[in-house]
Amino acid sequence: MVNQIRLYTESDHVEKAQHFEAVLSSRGVETEIVTVEQLNARFLRLHPELGLCVDVDGLWLCANGMKMQPDWQAETARLKRASLKSEMIARACNLAEKPFLIDATAGLGHDSLLMAHLGAQVTLVERHPILFTLLEDSHIRARQDTFLSQVVARIHLVFSDSADYLKSRVEQKNLVDVVYLDPMFPQRDQNQQAPKKQAQVKKQMQLLHLLLPEDGEMDLGDHLLELAQDIAKRVVVKRPRLAVFLAGKQPDHQWQGDACRFDAYFQHELVA
Ligand SMILES: C[S@@+](CC[C@H](N)C(=O)[O-])C[C@H]1O[C@@H](n2cnc3c(N)ncnc32)[C@H](O)[C@@H]1O
Repeated sequence: MVNQIRLYTESDHVEKAQHFEAVLSSRGVETEIVTVEQLNARFLRLHPELGLCVDVDGLWLCANGMKMQPDWQAETARLKRASLKSEMIARACNLAEKPFLIDATAGLGHDSLLMAHLGAQVTLVERHPILFTLLEDSHIRARQDTFLSQVVARIHLVFSDSADYLKSRVEQKNLVDVVYLDPMFPQRDQNQQAPKKQAQVKKQMQLLHLLLPEDGEMDLGDHLLELAQDIAKRVVVKRPRLAVFLAGKQPDHQWQGDACRFDAYFQHELVA
């Protein structure tokens, strides 16, 4: 886990950078603020190591000449096109019922943004301190946007390891309609049937991968399935199309797409 990182900014945004420095420090990440003259594409190319930057648009993760943030604004067009009928995730998570849903592997929050747009009340859990801080910043900016503010009003962020969060809900018998899981998956599929050629990972995912452990050390989230099943009537797991089942457990139902699939597990005896 990255726990020391440079935070680049221009003199106009030092105060904002200091705010993020304090927030990240409270989450166990020490930053060194470096004020530069021009935080532009050239600067990022000349400083390819993993870092953070703060500009007029908030906090960014940067590396290899690129920068990224969970860009919820850029999702607006996709959200406007989406419907309960057209989205496989909507059928898998039964979003027509406007469920209370825990997304236990937040990442960039894109799936949750879509689910909240389609009616779910989402608790979004992320354990990585830098990713969580990026998410929190996106959430704050989205609250100022006329369209997105209505969507993110249905998203509540929690900084925690989901195993701890789900355990505490199990103890409190605090049930929920759906738990959604999309744990990291090794770049090269474990499954023997995996296609040899992987599609190029999107820029955002490339940078996300730099923050997270190497393939061999990656926590594949198998332990989350049983905990999720203890509190949710429906657990939905997003997987690459040909990937092995989470925790090796055969789902009750599957929705197959071109690039990914959704595996669903039902607990009929639970009443939320
Ligand atoms: C593949 S990404 C999820 C992408 C997400 N569905 C989206 O739409 O952007 C997986 C994320 O889950 C987080 N994660 C994995 N295991 C976790 C756990 N036990 N608790 C909290 N977050 C976890 C990782 O840090 C990573 O950010």
